[in-house]
Amino acid sequence: MFKYIVRGGKELSGIIEISGAKNAAVGMIPAAILVDGVCRIENIPQISDTNIQLGILRTLGASVKMVNPHTMDIDCGGIKTPVADFDMMQKLRASYYLIGALLGKFGEAVVAMPGGCNFGGVRPIDQHVKGFEAMGATVELKNGLVYAKAEGGRLHGANIYLDVVSVGATINLMLAAVLAKGRTIIENAAREPHIVDVANFLNSMGADVRGAGTNVIKIRGVDHLTGGFYSIIPDQIEAGTYMAAVAGTGGELIIRNVIPKHLNCISGKLEEMGVEVEEGEDEVLVRRHGPLRRTNFKTQPYPGFPTDMQPQLTTVLAIANGTSRVTEGVWDSRYKYVDELTKMGANIRVDGRTAYVEGVSKLTGAHVKACDLRAGAAMVIAGLCAEGVTEIEGVEYVERGYEELIKKLRSVGADIECIEIPDADTAIPNAG
Ligand code: EPU
Repeated sequence: MFKYIVRGGKELSGIIEISGAKNAAVGMIPAAILVDGVCRIENIPQISDTNIQLGILRTLGASVKMVNPHTMDIDCGGIKTPVADFDMMQKLRASYYLIGALLGKFGEAVVAMPGGCNFGGVRPIDQHVKGFEAMGATVELKNGLVYAKAEGGRLHGANIYLDVVSVGATINLMLAAVLAKGRTIIENAAREPHIVDVANFLNSMGADVRGAGTNVIKIRGVDHLTGGFYSIIPDQIEAGTYMAAVAGTGGELIIRNVIPKHLNCISGKLEEMGVEVEEGEDEVLVRRHGPLRRTNFKTQPYPGFPTDMQPQLTTVLAIANGTSRVTEGVWDSRYKYVDELTKMGANIRVDGRTAYVEGVSKLTGAHVKACDLRAGAAMVIAGLCAEGVTEIEGVEYVERGYEELIKKLRSVGADIECIEIPDADTAIPNAG
């Protein structure tokens, strides 16, 4: 096991390159199951979540060849079974995409219930199941396993209204629908950039998916998908995390290889807080030299403020002037990290889905833990802003979603290192 040691109080300055979007990659890798022939996927982030997904494909019988560290040739022609490796599946949330992909391809899927970051509440998949059933599958959840089978061996198109806006259900139902017989309409669909990216990937392989990025997605089933080439979009949340980091420490970062439009709501909030953000074609310059001001924000599905940026921005607000109000509008609970921030001197009171953040003049280094992926990123930001030394345990969470975090931060002046904890007796956490 490893921990991060952060010596805080240094301004960040320089250039950071953003990797491919995790939450697009984890949808696209299982989507390759639907394709006959080789799909070359470029800009895959080198993080443990994508490595696990690729490992699951290999154990199913797929050939995965590395062209370079971020480009893989995936050929799923060798997959002969719809039964996925249970242990690996339980290591991440996005393994639920195996259900849609296997069901769409083979008319059958036997998979373990997904793992994933535990925010302190339940993470149901009822909307996924409802959609599969509408498309003619029977789905049974028994002893931690999901057994799904399409009547007659092939799903059929259906009209599906999602009761909650769900990223996972939207992508999973798209995967199930591309090879189904007839037309599927997903209403109240999620609109995140990674949903559009997965739809574009499927279309580039011959699928007929329209409307991704709006709340109505129409999919006309085709008989087969053929191989092709696709490059994943940059990671909105990775970019936002570094934007929050420089907002907290002060200094000036150029964040490169981004789609600035995807960052609009993050940029807007930072500007309200006294941070300058200048948009370029595929980069943003983020600069803060003056004081940080309070603000309020509420997380919502895209194009609202992303829940996956909530812990990072709340951490910056912890050292802003005045009292800020943060409302979590996506998850029932995502404030476990607040106890850790409190150890560093933050003054935050949580009441249900709302956190009242009373800005303090400084945070002080402490021994803290990463409770989940984004909470871990928040601890890193807190450590960078704090006076003294912060030790962060549980960093395996962070490494599931951020490629080369330490290297990228060190290259812009952060004093952060990753060291091995001898004989640590800690279980490997799940993510995403
Ligand atoms: N929900 C249901 N039923 C369902 C599915 C979701 O009630 O069948 C509820 C959830 O409980 C939640 C809301 O709907 O309250 C939204 O959940 P969603 O399905 O959108 O979340 P997810 O697909 O499980 C993905 C990301 C999360 C991100 C959320 C929201 C992946 C692998 N994970 O999760 O990312 O927080 O969308 O944007 O794409 C992260 O990257 O740190 C992370 C946790």
